[in-house]
Amino acid sequence: MSRSHNFSPGPAVLPEAVLRQTQEALWELNGCGQGLLETSHRGAAFADVMERATGRLRRLLRLSDDQEVLFLHGGARTQFYQIPMNLLRGGRATYLETGTWSRQAAEEARRYGTVDVGFSSADSRYDRVPEQGAWGPLPKGTTYLHYTSNNTVAGTEYAYVPDVEGASLMCDMSSNLLSRQVDGSRFDLLYAGAQKNLGPAGVTMVVLRKGLLERCDTNLPMMCRYDVHVKKGSMYNTPCTFGIYVIERVCAWLEELGGLDVIDARNQAQADLIYGVMDASDFWQGRAAKRSRSRMNATFSTGDAALDTACVAAATAEGLLGLKGHSSMGGLRASMYNAQNDEAVQALASFMKHFEATHG
Ligand SMILES: Cc1ncc(COP(=O)(O)O)c(C=O)c1O
Repeated sequence: MSRSHNFSPGPAVLPEAVLRQTQEALWELNGCGQGLLETSHRGAAFADVMERATGRLRRLLRLSDDQEVLFLHGGARTQFYQIPMNLLRGGRATYLETGTWSRQAAEEARRYGTVDVGFSSADSRYDRVPEQGAWGPLPKGTTYLHYTSNNTVAGTEYAYVPDVEGASLMCDMSSNLLSRQVDGSRFDLLYAGAQKNLGPAGVTMVVLRKGLLERCDTNLPMMCRYDVHVKKGSMYNTPCTFGIYVIERVCAWLEELGGLDVIDARNQAQADLIYGVMDASDFWQGRAAKRSRSRMNATFSTGDAALDTACVAAATAEGLLGLKGHSSMGGLRASMYNAQNDEAVQALASFMKHFEATHG
């Protein structure tokens, strides 16, 4: 059986070592006599997985003792409403609108309070993120600022963590979590759907500061309450055991590789290769403003929709899969998450040069 090069935006490529370990765990989990999918979330074998997953994330993200790690259901989109439902409560929050996901997060928040849009790049089809501080002083009484650190659809990314004074900092890190060293202790709440850099679809990691728990609405349904999930150690209901196992293995892989500085350099080199091909050519047009380019999702086009379609088809025929751009953007998108290997990115760079030579 052969595997093609996978540039899918998510679910996305996972490290080969992790896939092989998972195959074995499906049959038997860490010598417990039961398979990963068959063992109780309350048994000793899974408790060990949970503890190690949490410990590794705490280390990699440099979390402080006053932050909790949760594994929840419902995808990153559930966090779009769970955050304001628990914490906005008729108050005011600032959202930075840099793409389809941050726009939808703001839309959900409007159900629970006042949303100030501190920055929007909607007019230029989300081709950029703001410069540090572009949102200005936050309006009086702002509870939190929410942003999306990597815009999976538009292909833009913040190269910095926003400085925020007098309000909590909240971030959707779904598509660049653990892709570089970030001081996780600066965030009052951060979350990520696992299916890009962390593991499979079906589990969402949430980090939140303990102090926020006192502000949570206790009249909400139990499943919506952060304080309930914290109290029950992410086991108020049955957690996504499979996903948490894979997250633990992905974090182990990252730590064994040498940590986030090593993956950071690898991600940078891969992105440089693809953007280098674009910049050396008049044929390829990058979508994102240069200073906002995402290292995880490179978005580009030939400038001709029919040629873009032909290009995706030609790439697919050569075993380069998942390159079609999001329907709202068109063009092509190459997703290069942590597990993307150099060989795949080199194959894409060669393909792009060849396609230009034969169609330019
Ligand atoms: C940045 C970002 N936020 C949120 C989502 C939605 O995630 P989910 O499907 O887990 O709800 C996505 C999905 O691609 C995403 O890329």
